[in-house]
Amino acid sequence: MKILILNGPNLNMLGKREPHIYGKLSLSDIEETIKNHAKSLGVEVEFFQSNYEGAIVEKIHQAFGNSDGIIINPGAYTHTSIAIRDAFLSVNIPFVEVHLSNVFSRESFRHKSYLSDIAQGVVSGLGQYSYICALNFLINFQNS
Ligand code: DQA
Repeated sequence: MKILILNGPNLNMLGKREPHIYGKLSLSDIEETIKNHAKSLGVEVEFFQSNYEGAIVEKIHQAFGNSDGIIINPGAYTHTSIAIRDAFLSVNIPFVEVHLSNVFSRESFRHKSYLSDIAQGVVSGLGQYSYICALNFLINFQNS
């Protein structure tokens, strides 16, 4: 089983970026935790981060036939991107939307997501554990 883990804009700045909101861990730290967890479960993971909407759209297209599930933290594109929504509808791969912060406790513009209604589910506010929860879910979902 292979799970693709996508991170959108500004997530390469984790650790430096608003640490009171997003924590002190870098994206590499978080990816390391996910990689170790995935290894212990015998699951293959691939990581991709981009600050560009089109690059994320293309990565989702490339997952067609190659990935069993996707975990995405779309960053600010969560709240704006019909293109990423349409990419998920095109490939029809089960995915979970994740956020480090609890978007519902923040500005109202962060409450709207273009992805939530077509995702298997959403995990928001658990820091790096948002990704771990999503991974555990996708593994069990695929095996159920
Ligand atoms: C985020 C929440 C988004 O609103 C924000 O634009 C991000 C990060 C999160 O992980 O909490 O870039 O997706």
